[in-house]
Amino acid sequence: MDLHYDGKVVLVTAASKGLGKASAMALAREGARVIISSRSQEALAKAAEEIEQQTGQKVLAIPADVSKPEDVKRLFDEVKKVSDQLFGLVCNAGGPPAGSFMSFTDDDWQRAFETNLLSVVRLVRASVPLMEANGGRIVAIASSSVKVPIPGLILSNTMRAGVQGLMKTLSIELAEKGILVNTVCPGRIATDRLRALDESRAQREGKTLEEVQQESLKDIPLKRYGEPHEFGQLVAYLLSPANTYLTGSTYMVDGGMVKAL
Ligand SMILES: NC(=O)c1ccc[n+]([C@@H]2O[C@H](COP(=O)([O-])OP(=O)(O)OC[C@H]3O[C@@H](n4cnc5c(N)ncnc54)[C@H](OP(=O)(O)O)[C@@H]3O)[C@@H](O)[C@H]2O)c1
Repeated sequence: MDLHYDGKVVLVTAASKGLGKASAMALAREGARVIISSRSQEALAKAAEEIEQQTGQKVLAIPADVSKPEDVKRLFDEVKKVSDQLFGLVCNAGGPPAGSFMSFTDDDWQRAFETNLLSVVRLVRASVPLMEANGGRIVAIASSSVKVPIPGLILSNTMRAGVQGLMKTLSIELAEKGILVNTVCPGRIATDRLRALDESRAQREGKTLEEVQQESLKDIPLKRYGEPHEFGQLVAYLLSPANTYLTGSTYMVDGGMVKAL
């Protein structure tokens, strides 16, 4: 299926590895002009090189921490040097730490808010002026916890619900500008983040990593973790000009893990 990117400019944040990089890879493969961003200049340059090698498309890498307003401003100053139009935005950031309610301070809550919710607000606010002339597409990466909160991830569970409310509201408000807005939720996709969470659970529960992984698979009807490229493909579709009618929805990429209707 041709997704009709034809060199349209798209920005993917937190894209030096994991789900952000896989989304950027899928977008480049479909012919988008991809700009990627994350905090580490070195990791980002490596990711850009890998995407270019695998897709034959040029990728621009701009370091930025999405939790910092000055970085988001600088990121968009750089984007505007490339084009005064942005077609696609993927809002992504690293996940907050695991821990119980009583273990977190106000600072921890503030950091999670800035990184996982306010970052989306700032990225969308900066993108809309670059999208409104010709329409656009926005995807936020959240978590299956918007349907079923995950024990031990209270910061994430709380911020993701906020993102979902924000995205639904934006889909209504931005529809008249031709901007389609959706949320994509990973269940258990094999990235460094998931491995780190499994390792810390194994340590906490006195189990091996393999035991923890086998237990997780019991909840997944497809009996395996997802691969990042399986996630990236959906993002590439939702962000594309070929998506003309999907907006305001939340999509699970979870191998059937979430049992809610
Ligand atoms: N994998 C899953 O199954 C799963 C499930 C549910 C939710 N999620 C959520 O999906 C998101 C992506 O997860 P992932 O598994 O791809 O994680 P990952 O493999 O740890 O990758 C995280 C990416 O985010 C970047 N990053 C972290 N903090 C950032 C910041 N403040 N500003 C800009 N970039 C930042 C990192 O690069 P730098 O270090 O260079 O900044 C890296 O590229 C996370 O929010 C995670 O919690 C993932």
